[in-house]
Amino acid sequence: MTIPSGSTQVFRLNTDETQDEALRIAAAAIRRGELVAFPTETVYGLGADALNAAAVERIFSAKGRPADNPLIVHIADIEQVSPLVCSIPAIFYPLAAAFWPGPLTLIMPKSAAVPDVTTGGLDTVAIRLPSHPVAQALIRVAQTPIAAPSANRSGRPSPTLAQHVLADLQGRVAVVLDGGAAGVGVESTVLDLTTSVPTILRPGGVTWEDLAAVIGDVQLDTRVSDINTAADLPVRSPGMKYRHYAPLAPAVLIEGEAPFVWEKMLQSLQVDQPQHPGLLITEEGYDWFTRQPLPERCEFVLMGKRYRPDTIAAGLYAALRRLDELQVDRIYMEGIAPQGMGLAVMNRMRRAAGGLIVQAEG
Ligand code: TXA
Ligand code: MG
Repeated sequence: MTIPSGSTQVFRLNTDETQDEALRIAAAAIRRGELVAFPTETVYGLGADALNAAAVERIFSAKGRPADNPLIVHIADIEQVSPLVCSIPAIFYPLAAAFWPGPLTLIMPKSAAVPDVTTGGLDTVAIRLPSHPVAQALIRVAQTPIAAPSANRSGRPSPTLAQHVLADLQGRVAVVLDGGAAGVGVESTVLDLTTSVPTILRPGGVTWEDLAAVIGDVQLDTRVSDINTAADLPVRSPGMKYRHYAPLAPAVLIEGEAPFVWEKMLQSLQVDQPQHPGLLITEEGYDWFTRQPLPERCEFVLMGKRYRPDTIAAGLYAALRRLDELQVDRIYMEGIAPQGMGLAVMNRMRRAAGGLIVQAEG
């Protein structure tokens, strides 16, 4: 089924016949140098032919993305790596065997085949083989690697549903492939293979613990571990320096163990006395709050289970968009333990809070 939507064609991928037709139209758009938004297992991507500089430039203007922020090149087959790089480090092979297809992006020295616009002028290229069948099929039918950032306007939360893509990019993208909810909910892990010890530039769908189990030594870029003091360090992943995932209302992140984290949230509410607060909270936190005396007009947006960070990752970006829709005037976010998928979740929440972080002492 096609739903015309401004100059954007939207396809709901329900049945096999519509899927084939939609993929053919979307792949033709990619080949013509146009933009196609498509589902991946992490978030929706805004794709263009990675080897066509003019097409890639359209991604930057559609998103309002700074030109020095490089894109991830998506492939459907491991054979597509070698034309994109000038050398493959030995550590690539065990990583690809363990985590591809999947939410892991690997950075390697780029070949001349990759236009400079795609890599934001860097001499390295970020490559990922997504596991989502629609992403894989689109790349195969288009017969070219597809450069794709998350399909949001720059500075907005990444889209995990086609409706998020349309809210941000209606009329700016030729085709949207609606494949339902993206599963993981946060972006891929970006791992730099050009450093002597592989370096996580962005935590994501593959955890640090998973990587360490396969390759042993893995380090976390300083910018990831501490967003407050890292502002003056040279930037290795240009995306990390831009304001990101910023809700409309000022937000504070409260970190600490339960129940202290909830007590601190309640105490902050009582001190600040906002007119219309929004609480981004776990199910356990919500249970706790329902037993407390609460200010009027307090909105709760639930984000998953406190000790299941994968459930929080899946709902986090939709929850941030929901807080904007509710037009709250101040946001209080419940922090969780930065372990496993919790590291990626906390990285996104710290950035959403713009560094405004409070520690609950227990
Ligand atoms: O899960 C994902 O990775 C999604 C889906 C669509 O695949 N894509 C995504 O792309 O999140 P984007 O553009 O929103 O984030 C890419 C990140 C940015 O932080 C960028 O700076 C970094 O990867 N990056 C890309 N190429 C790089 C390079 N050559 N060196 C260092 N960082 C790079
Ligand atoms: Mg993004």
